[in-house]
Amino acid sequence: MASTFNVHEASGYDQLMGRWSRKLAPNFIEFAGISEGERILDVGCGTGSLTFELAKHADLKEIQAIDFSPVFVAAAKSRNTDPRISIQQADATALPFDDGSFDRAMALLVLHFVPDASRAIAEMRRVVRPGGVVAAVVWDHMGGMTGMRIVVDTLAAFSEGGRQLRDKYVFQPMTQPGEMRKAFVEQCLEQVDQNELLLRMDYLNFADFWAPFAGGEGSIGKFVGALAPDNLGPMTAAVRDAYEAGRPDGPRSFTSVAWACRGVVNTR
Ligand SMILES: C[S@@+](CC[C@H](N)C(=O)[O-])C[C@H]1O[C@@H](n2cnc3c(N)ncnc32)[C@H](O)[C@@H]1O
Repeated sequence: MASTFNVHEASGYDQLMGRWSRKLAPNFIEFAGISEGERILDVGCGTGSLTFELAKHADLKEIQAIDFSPVFVAAAKSRNTDPRISIQQADATALPFDDGSFDRAMALLVLHFVPDASRAIAEMRRVVRPGGVVAAVVWDHMGGMTGMRIVVDTLAAFSEGGRQLRDKYVFQPMTQPGEMRKAFVEQCLEQVDQNELLLRMDYLNFADFWAPFAGGEGSIGKFVGALAPDNLGPMTAAVRDAYEAGRPDGPRSFTSVAWACRGVVNTR
C-alpha cells in the first residue's frame, strides 16, 4: 500500500485540514529555506497548500508537485494559473524524476500517511542535487493535536473500533519525538535539524469543527461515516460536550504542534 490517506472530496479536505495546512505552509517554507532561481518539488501536494504558497515567491524558477490522489491532483490543477507550476499524479516512494533534478524537495503533512516513509525520504534525497535540501513536516499526533485528541479519545471511550482508530492515529509513522530526525539521518542526509512549528486551529462553533468528520473526510471521517445511527448520535453528543466543555457553543481555539525536519544532500 502506497498511502493510508482517505480521500473523499477536495472541498471536504480543505475544511478538515487544507485551511490549516495553508496556515502552516509559510512557516514550513521559512524553516526549509528557499532561494532565488530554485526548482522545488512539493511531494504530496494535496489540493496545493504548499504549491501555491511557494508560487507567491516570484523568484522561484520551477515548482513541480505530485500527489498519490487523482482527486487532489485534479483539484490542484484546476486552481493553477502559474506557468512555473506542474502537477501530476505520482507515488512519493517512486518519484518520476531524474537524480538531482531539484534544489529542494518538501513534504507538508505527508510522510505520516506513507507506510514506507523512509523510502519516500530516500526518493526525495535522490531527486535533490548535492548540497540541496530535503524537508518534511508532520503533526505531533500524540502530544500536539489538541482538537483531534478530543475526537479520537472520545471515540475510543465508546468502542473497541474507536480505540483501535485512536491507537493507530497517535502512532502514525514519523509522528513520535525524534522519529523523523532518525529517519533523515538513516537516509544519509546531513546537517539534519528538527524543530517544532506551532499554530492554532480556530473554529467558529461545533458545526465548523465537526462538519468534515461528519462528511467522511480523513481516516476519522471514514470511521464516523460507517457508524450505525444508534452509535453516531451518542458519539457526536460526546464530542460536542468535549468541544463545548460546559459553556455555550461558539468559537474555540486549539493548539497544534508539528515536527519539522530538514537535511542537506551529501555533496560527495
Ligand atoms: C494531509 S494531506 C496533505 C496534503 C497537502 N500537502 C497539504 O498540506 O494540504 C496528505 C497527502 O499525502 C498524499 N499522499 C499520501 N501517500 C502518498 C504517496 N505515497 N505518494 C504521494 N502522495 C501521498 C495524500 O494523497 C494527501 O494528499
